[in-house]
Amino acid sequence: MQIISTVSAMQALRRNLTSSIGLVPTMGYLHEGHLSLVRRARCENDIVIVSIFVNPSQFGPNEDLGTYPRDLEHDLALLREAQVDYVFAPSNDELYPPRYQTWVELSELPQQLEGARRPGHFRGVTTIVSKLFHLTRPTRAYFGQKDAQQALILRRMVADLNFALQMIICPTVREAHGLAMSSRNNYLSAEERQGAGVLYQALQAAQSAYDAGERCAERLREIMRDVLAQEPLARPEYISAADLETLTEIPGLITGPALLSLAVPFAGKARLIDNIWLGTSPDTLPAL
Ligand code: PAJ
Repeated sequence: MQIISTVSAMQALRRNLTSSIGLVPTMGYLHEGHLSLVRRARCENDIVIVSIFVNPSQFGPNEDLGTYPRDLEHDLALLREAQVDYVFAPSNDELYPPRYQTWVELSELPQQLEGARRPGHFRGVTTIVSKLFHLTRPTRAYFGQKDAQQALILRRMVADLNFALQMIICPTVREAHGLAMSSRNNYLSAEERQGAGVLYQALQAAQSAYDAGERCAERLREIMRDVLAQEPLARPEYISAADLETLTEIPGLITGPALLSLAVPFAGKARLIDNIWLGTSPDTLPAL
């Protein structure tokens, strides 16, 4: 496994690669969720590139950039074990040199859900992912369903900017009690992580109602609200039943693919997000 830390080395390497390339962009502190993407990439491509870069431009001024967990040595050991070919781990200055001023921004999808609460977040994500796509020119790029809005925004960006690559969205990997794996779960104690399983319980309760024929979006939000209310450490920020294509709240009945999603500050320590999709799945999502 080769570690690449500069833009020029990445460009030089890429010029010599001719076979299929799977790219897995990450911010490091890797867990089973990340590794599930890496394994799928390993299975589907001749060459696997994983990027590790804690992208400052996607963090708000009051967010956790300074305390975001990092452990490069451990990450590299996990990636070596997963038979990754190249790790691209550049410094901030490599990707954002002085006087940097170019941004990639979508006009509509980032205004909803996470984007509405985290101004500028998705501008940072779409910019850095565009740069990674240019530098590595992958055949396929792998993202987690866990960050559904991110994956759907990037899918739109790939279509809009004609990136010649296939977007692969992989299922959410969870801890034993249902909590979606996240580098930020580290902020919680073992007991709190167990209690945080309530997010998935809420989503599952709504999914069961939907499967039994419930189509009223507000009723599904209410079901999720009631389950979350049973856990005093959970302080929901939003409880959403949105159209999966526009990400806007569904006012009445659900008639097409829907995204049920939650953002829940938990125990005053971590802002947890989770989601499930109704009436579609990452594998059956139509090409744009
Ligand atoms: P990061 O949070 O490190 O996540 C990297 C990738 O792993 C993302 O596509 C994310 O959706 C996926 N992932 C995280 N937890 C997962 C889980 N429990 N199950 C399945 N997949 C999971 O997302 C980012 O980094 C950044 O925004 C990035 C895309 C790298 C741009 O900076």
